[in-house]
Parts: sequence; C-alpha cells; structure tokens
Amino acid sequence: MRTLIANGTVVTAEGSYPADVLVDGEQIAHVGSDLANAAAADETIDATGRYVIPGGIDIHTHMELPFGGTFAKDTFETGTRAAAFGGTTTIVDFAVQSRGKSLREGLDAWHAKAEGNAVVDYGFHMIMSDVNDDTLAEMDQLVAEGVPDFKLFTAYPGVFFSDDGAIFRAMQRTGKNGGLIMMHAENGLAIDVIAADTVAAGTTDPIGHGLARYSVLEGEATNRVIRLAQAAKVPVYIVHLSAREALDAVRLARDEGLPAFAETCPQYLFLSLDDMGHGFEGAKFICSPPLRTIDHQPELWKGLVKDDLQVVSTDHCPFDFHGQKDLGKGDFRKVPNGLPGVEDRMDLLHDGGVVGGKITKERWVEVTSTAPARLFGMYPRKGTISVGADADIVVYDPNRSHTISAKTHHMNVDYSCYEGRSVRGGSDVVMSRGSVVVRNGEFTGRKGAGKFLKRAAADFARMA
Ligand code: URP
Ligand code: ZN
Ligand code: ZN
Repeated sequence: MRTLIANGTVVTAEGSYPADVLVDGEQIAHVGSDLANAAAADETIDATGRYVIPGGIDIHTHMELPFGGTFAKDTFETGTRAAAFGGTTTIVDFAVQSRGKSLREGLDAWHAKAEGNAVVDYGFHMIMSDVNDDTLAEMDQLVAEGVPDFKLFTAYPGVFFSDDGAIFRAMQRTGKNGGLIMMHAENGLAIDVIAADTVAAGTTDPIGHGLARYSVLEGEATNRVIRLAQAAKVPVYIVHLSAREALDAVRLARDEGLPAFAETCPQYLFLSLDDMGHGFEGAKFICSPPLRTIDHQPELWKGLVKDDLQVVSTDHCPFDFHGQKDLGKGDFRKVPNGLPGVEDRMDLLHDGGVVGGKITKERWVEVTSTAPARLFGMYPRKGTISVGADADIVVYDPNRSHTISAKTHHMNVDYSCYEGRSVRGGSDVVMSRGSVVVRNGEFTGRKGAGKFLKRAAADFARMA
C-alpha cells in the first residue's frame, strides 16, 4: 500500500517546509516536492493548509495502574485509541514491580495487558518498588530486552518509595548497563507528616493535597536525586516536574554540564491550585506532584523554551470521579492520584504553546515527539518525518477549533480536567506505521495492531 500525503507543510523539530510525503508499507519512502507526478499511490491524502508532523510520543502513561485500592481506568485498548484520536501514535507505559515480586513478573504482566490490545505502538519503562541484589541483576536483562528505563520514587512511603541508598544503588547499576533512572522527586516522608497535620487541623477536602505537598519539597528531592546521579556518574530524568524550585535544580545542574533531563505535563502548564478548590470537585485534579499556584507556569514555559525541560508528557492516569476518586471523600489522602490527558496533549500544547505564542511549531513537535524519541531510544525510527522512519504521521489542522469535553473525548473516564476549554488545532488524519487509524474523527484502526517497541538505551549525546 502506497499513500501520498500531498501539499502539506512538513513540520519537524529542525524546520518546516512545503513537501509531499510518500508512504510505502509501514515506512516513509520519500519526502520532496511534487511527488504526485513521480509516484503512483494507492491513496492520496490532501494536506493542503495543514501540517504534516511526526506522530506524538507520550513517554509517561499509566494504563491500568494499581493505585490507592483501585486501577487506572484506561486499558491499552481504550488508552491507545484515545491517544490516536489526539495525534499520539506511540506511548511508553510504566510496568510495575509489586513489592516482593520480581521485575520479570511485573513486566510480563504489562506485556499481557498490552499485547493484542494496543492500537498504536507502545514501549515500557519499569517501576522498581524493591531495590535488592535480585532486582538489580534483573535490570541488566530488561535493558537488553528494550526496557532500559527504571522509575524510582522519593514519594509515596510504604508504596513505591525508595530511600537514597536504594536509589543510589539503582543509579550505579545503570552506570554499568546503560539504562536510565527516571525519578518521581518529592520528599514523600515530609509530605506525609504535613498531610497528616493538614487533616488533623480539619482540612480533609482535596485542596489539602495541594497545600500539603510543598513545592520546596519537590525542589529538595529534585536536587537530591540529581546530586545522587552526579555521584553515581549517570544521567537522570525527572518525571512530571511541576514547580519552580525543581526547575531551578535542573537548570543549575544543566548549567554545570550535568546530564540532568526533565519533563513537565500539560496539567502544570494549564491548570493550577485554584482548580483544586470547590469542595470535593477538586478530587478531579488530584495528582502528584500537585497542581501549583499559577505563578509557576511562566517558569515552566521558560524551561521549555530554553530546553531546561526537554519533554512534555501527560502522566495519563485516569480514575473516574464517581466510583474511584470518591474513595477519598472525607480524607484527601485516600483519593487515587492521577489525571486523564493522553488525548489532549498535542492540542493543548498547540493551542496554548504555538497559537499562544510561547513556543514555535517546531519546538511543539520537538517536545511532544522528537525529544522523547531521542531520549528514549526510538529515534530516528520515531519522532521525525524522514525517509526510512516509521510512517507515524499526523495531518494536523492548525486552524480547526474544538471544545474539550468528557462527552466527546475517547478516554475511558467520566470527566475532563479541561471541560469546556476551546482549543485551536486538531488531528485530521492519524497514521500508525502506514495505516490510517483516525480519519476526520472516525476510528479506522484495529485493536492489536500496536506493537511492542524494543527500545535502545537512551541517546544523551545531543542533549548533554
Ligand atoms: O498522580 C500521579 N502522578 N499518578 C500516577 C503515578 C505517578 O506518580 O506518576
Ligand atoms: Zn510519579
Ligand atoms: Zn506517572
């Protein structure tokens, strides 16, 4: 099957230019001008007036994550389908090692959840709940199997929390096996004390979550794990960075030439602590780190512009408001942590970033696709429009407006954090390895068509 995407503007991290793109089978075969005359195609997609961009890559999702006595609601089928509607054609999800079990068991469980269900390609990172001789040895095997990243937590004591010694040992191991440590950096021990004090003082509503998780404690933990990585002589990647203090720690490290990398998420760019008020409604916005006061947002945008933040991912982790978030009625500490977002990322960033004049369209493509591909061992197979790359392509209309709503979104969750928000920009045609999976609002893909991506250890040379 040969598909010609004609008359569009190709937008990559490197630049934009008018070009036709010829897809042959699963790959991009040609990029150039007037290919219509040169190549017989089975189908021609007219991209006049639209961008032709590499499919979005969301390297931070949690399909079916067990949390707080329940499970994140999207499966690999519903979650990747929603991703595709939003122009994201690759996800990297976090497999979970349960306490006392092996990494292998956790990874196998995640393969079983995804295989035969995902509609677009997917990879895995591994959440490490125990660091011991056995799990450290297992890390080497996972790197060899294309799961080269390991998330550890300074948050969630008693659940995912690791102490500094455990984190340092895991970092040392990646120094030998080429893997990467991804850190959830908040001082969970101190936060739990403050949260208990907050409840004892009578604040049990969701706003207490935002008030108790001080931004300075994200800054402290971020600096601490960066310095641990420095001592272990390895790179480190900070996930879901939300606060100015944490960004300052990353900036300082990068100014020193250290290989410290970080992502932020749309919720920290577009939502704020104010959304956590309004009584129990605020539970819709409970995630960790929490939404911050609005004054953090300009700093995060600056971080994206100056490349102190390299990636925008979603931390997609949806729980229904009715039946899941309400487990925490009367005590915000019992609300499952996480927000839906995999479907909205590209449009929010286009609208608020590109249309809003904060980043260029090339930077938009970079932070949502190219940099994730580079940092997480998928480039140039994913993350760009070039000959030989996978034909994960989005024909994106920068002028079409739509209103985000739970009534129309495809994520399997009963609310939207962005309900009623109008955004400019939308994915008209979404192609995954040469097959059209979404066309003008209709799903044309297939459950099980998404394949596991065996990823290389991260390529840090360019960014360091
Ligand atoms: O609130 C969040 N972020 N939930 C998902 C788990 C995590 O820490 O990433
Ligand atoms: Zn986390
Ligand atoms: Zn997460």
